[in-house]
Amino acid sequence: MKKTGLISALMAAAALMLITTAGHAKTFKMAIGDAQGGTQWALAQEFTKLFTEKAGSKYKISLFPNGQLGSEQDTINDASMGTLDFSLLAVNNITPFSPTVGVLTMPYVIQSLDDAVKLTHGAVGKELVENTIRDAGVRIVGWAYSGFRVLTNSKRPVETLEDLKGLVIRVPKNEIMIATYQAWGINPSPMAWSETFTALQQKVVDGQDNPFITVSAMKFYEVQKYITTIRYIFSLEPLIISESVFQSQKPEIKKAILDAGMEATLHSEQYLRNTEDSIKKDLVAKGMVISAPADGEKEWIEKATSAVWPKYYDKVGGKAKVDEILKVLGR
Ligand code: MLT
Repeated sequence: MKKTGLISALMAAAALMLITTAGHAKTFKMAIGDAQGGTQWALAQEFTKLFTEKAGSKYKISLFPNGQLGSEQDTINDASMGTLDFSLLAVNNITPFSPTVGVLTMPYVIQSLDDAVKLTHGAVGKELVENTIRDAGVRIVGWAYSGFRVLTNSKRPVETLEDLKGLVIRVPKNEIMIATYQAWGINPSPMAWSETFTALQQKVVDGQDNPFITVSAMKFYEVQKYITTIRYIFSLEPLIISESVFQSQKPEIKKAILDAGMEATLHSEQYLRNTEDSIKKDLVAKGMVISAPADGEKEWIEKATSAVWPKYYDKVGGKAKVDEILKVLGR
């Protein structure tokens, strides 16, 4: 072969290799509701590292934090249609699409990180994964644990339900959470997560609830002063993948996704255990004032459980399901 012929042949082979490699390369998109720095971000980074190690370097994941790809609820629709691969969001924003997941947002059902771990790793978690695939076309492949949702506001210390009166509190568009605030005597303002910082900044609302770690990641300390350490919901943040995207992967890639999800979940538990206290101290250093419910939360618990549980038993799978969960949790 002449020299020019050889060069042409080599160039053609290189071009073919590029096309073949590009054909197999895949960059998944992952929407993340929170800003960088919280438990969602930590889980996303860990999952990405583990998944790309397992799946090989042709597979990549691009992360889009801070609601860049739309509100958390929009991302479920997109994943359900297969136009988005992954989303990392709060469990309360899945409930409208798959009501039985609401059992995890029933006030005061989950009372500790250990409870949250037990439920997500056990039969209850597995059943919710199946229900979410069936109802919403998305598969939960991992969980971030973020801690209890504490109440923040810009106006005054809140220690009693009386103190809460007159405050405008943003809640997610989640019926159970809305009903909980109603049981506490106020009508909250349902609003997408992606609009919350601006609404707090512009004083359209006075407060909201989310874990310490999220308050910090979202820089809410810039627009909120007071924290009340209520413990009505333990915030779980599932990592979901579009079921149609999942099913279109080769078996070894499906396995890499599931294994990376499980390992990243274990990492998330340790991340919360290692960081929550220092984040709380940092929020105080930044000027936030922390109070506890004056009566050890007794009135809050009584009002919420007596009004909300009976109203939502049927939606979350029946009273027997809630009783079964309480039994799993040793109550
Ligand atoms: C919400 O309040 O809508 C969510 O909990 C926000 C989040 O994803 O952290």
